[in-house]
Amino acid sequence: MSLKLLANWKLHGSKSFYQNWFAAFNQSYRGSNHDSLGIAPPSIYISDIARYSSNPGIAIGSQNIDQFSSGARTGEIASRMVKDAGGLFSITGHSERRMFFNELDGDIAAKLDLASAASLIPILCVGESSEERDQNKTEKVLEMQVSNVLRACSTLHSLTIAYEPVWAIGSGMIPEPEEINSIHEMIKDVVQSRFSNIDLHAVIYGGSVNLENSKSIFKEKEIDGALIGGASLNGEEFASIANIFNDLKGL
Ligand code: PGA
Repeated sequence: MSLKLLANWKLHGSKSFYQNWFAAFNQSYRGSNHDSLGIAPPSIYISDIARYSSNPGIAIGSQNIDQFSSGARTGEIASRMVKDAGGLFSITGHSERRMFFNELDGDIAAKLDLASAASLIPILCVGESSEERDQNKTEKVLEMQVSNVLRACSTLHSLTIAYEPVWAIGSGMIPEPEEINSIHEMIKDVVQSRFSNIDLHAVIYGGSVNLENSKSIFKEKEIDGALIGGASLNGEEFASIANIFNDLKGL
């Protein structure tokens, strides 16, 4: 399975929400293959949605996992629990986790190792802030984020990276697609040249992806997919974005 289009529902949804979501998605999705699709709902729904989504076969995963596998960690969820509940992947290091929950590179590395140990596909999010972008530090910051995290991993053998500029998340602004393309190229180069023991499955883009801009994004060669927040809350829109993705990437 190679996940390419991920819905990040953040702190949204309810039972009736996802039932309606799947009905809308199924009506609009034209593809016969669902292998590249995933949804990260709030963890409390993983188990329920994993059963619900097994046909058509959209992968379910978590938005976060704890950096420990068990212990006195009130309120946390372990990678093996996500797996046990039917999850197939985990997002780690989302900028909202870094910002609101003070996650550091070392914590994120531990999460990636644990995700991998639990046979969850690990997704690492990286991205520069608007200040860093204004100071022309984007490439340097991304290189540091990727290197610091991967250097601190001990058992990780494969991953997907989501490039998510912090200023583009939920803002309606995106970098020029050509710019995203060259950043993805740089990220691939950093991983391949410095961490040859780690298999990089894909570099996907996240930040204000929607139906209008998805075509221009997916046209770029090094953009392997997308992590979609706001627009993924609408089953019809997510399906339409997936249709565009399939058409452009020949799936
Ligand atoms: P957005 O969120 O699509 O609403 O910008 C993306 C994300 O945070 O993963």
